[in-house]
Amino acid sequence: MVLETLALLVIVVFVVGMILWWLLITTEGVYLGRRVVVWLYDVYARRYDKIKRYDSAMEAATLGRPILRALLDIPAPMVLDVATGTARLPLALFGQPAFNGYVIGLDYSRRMLAVAAEKIAPLGHRVQLIYQPAQALPFDDNTFDAVTCLEALEFMPDPDAVIAELIRVARPGALILITNRKGLEARLMPGKTQPREALVEKLRVDFGLNSVLANIWQVDYDQVWAFKPGEATPAPDHGLEAVLRCPHCGQRAMQRSDSTGLTCAECAARVPIAADGVIEYANFRLAAIDSPLQRRA
Ligand SMILES: C[S@@+](CC[C@H](N)C(=O)[O-])C[C@H]1O[C@@H](n2cnc3c(N)ncnc32)[C@H](O)[C@@H]1O
Repeated sequence: MVLETLALLVIVVFVVGMILWWLLITTEGVYLGRRVVVWLYDVYARRYDKIKRYDSAMEAATLGRPILRALLDIPAPMVLDVATGTARLPLALFGQPAFNGYVIGLDYSRRMLAVAAEKIAPLGHRVQLIYQPAQALPFDDNTFDAVTCLEALEFMPDPDAVIAELIRVARPGALILITNRKGLEARLMPGKTQPREALVEKLRVDFGLNSVLANIWQVDYDQVWAFKPGEATPAPDHGLEAVLRCPHCGQRAMQRSDSTGLTCAECAARVPIAADGVIEYANFRLAAIDSPLQRRA
């Protein structure tokens, strides 16, 4: 009897352990909600680069140079990298001396962004980091010459809704670059991943993208390149802050009030800028005093 109880206990502990492993390690918390995903990235942020060990030559060959080639006709391309993590994509692009554009890197893990901020500091005003979930990008439709999202869609609550957001903020003719998870772990993430052919078909048919092409990239990811329909006309070279939309009223009226924040000229919502330069959309506040909104109310 004692032995049977002990055996049962071992089985229960084993099964619970396997479930926890699947929930927290294999699928990185995605079935527990976006806060758990982001919390796990916060926990691992300082170790992330050591775990990934990206090879700079490979990054240049598979990201920096091909993206630059796709943007050759645009004098100062505006690029948005969603789920930028520790700034992999901005660094790959600025590793190309011919790249003469701007990059916004957006992520919902504040600690990943803190690491990114240290790495991109030498690039000055040409990279801006934004703390905000990918589900609601604070930009107008048709804003960026290229929109990228690497190794992240499968961790979003609704990956298709994020793809729709990436396409919304891309300009006509813009490059869209995303990744598709593959291998055993992809098969253990039902509803979050799909075979490469299914994603290509979805981007072509459901999302109406042009020239959709998937290529083998890393052990657990393929790249998927595509273009938004329409004729490419470069985004105006007006710097990064000009494209920001107010998180409260949605107007493109964010102005730098001082080094610690941006204020919306329409509704007075205030978005803090942290000491490391990250614009903290996710922490925006409505002004306590005398905003036009309050006056109207
Ligand atoms: C595997 S990392 C990839 C980072 C980077 N793109 C790269 O290739 O190194 C996934 C990133 O997605 C971010 N992320 C997860 N859920 C997010 C969400 N809902 N909104 C924005 N970023 C999110 C995480 O914080 C993390 O930085």
